[in-house]
Amino acid sequence: MVVIDMVKMPPEVQEVINKQKPVPVATADSNGKPNVIFVTFLRIVDDETIQIADNFFNKTRANLNENPQISIVGYDSETKRSFQVKGKVDIMTEGPVYEDVKAWVHARSKAMPMIAAVVMHVEEIYNAMYGSDAGKRIA
Ligand SMILES: Cc1cc2nc3c(=O)[nH]c(=O)nc-3n(C[C@H](O)[C@H](O)[C@H](O)COP(=O)(O)O)c2cc1C
Repeated sequence: MVVIDMVKMPPEVQEVINKQKPVPVATADSNGKPNVIFVTFLRIVDDETIQIADNFFNKTRANLNENPQISIVGYDSETKRSFQVKGKVDIMTEGPVYEDVKAWVHARSKAMPMIAAVVMHVEEIYNAMYGSDAGKRIA
């Protein structure tokens, strides 16, 4: 069984991620080779959970199958805040969560293939703003 120590995203972290468009999503394969993509279909569903639509994942999906972890980063130039969020993921290709993400995606674009719903359980949050607190863990 995978043990997940979830943490809650404070409001300022959620604000930065919600404003970040598109969101960089980093994965790694089982050898540690990194990969980063942009994602538009990413939403925060509660303090501990983020959903991402896999419409076109290729290396990202292969990486998640081997190593189900993601890191995202956001930067808000207005408030001068930046955060990294890391967590483990579940991949859903059917069931109520998949159907819910599919309905959200298809409400914006019916052309999206909606291969899978990637559900990220937040485990670590870091301040990524330049300055004396850069890199410090906040949750
Ligand atoms: C602006 C932008 C937004 C994107 N949004 C998504 C998305 O929401 N979902 C998705 O599956 N791919 C999205 N893509 C495609 C991925 O960034 C990427 O091309 C795809 O996962 C294949 O790369 P990979 O082999 O590294 O996984 C987007 C690409 C761009 C440029």
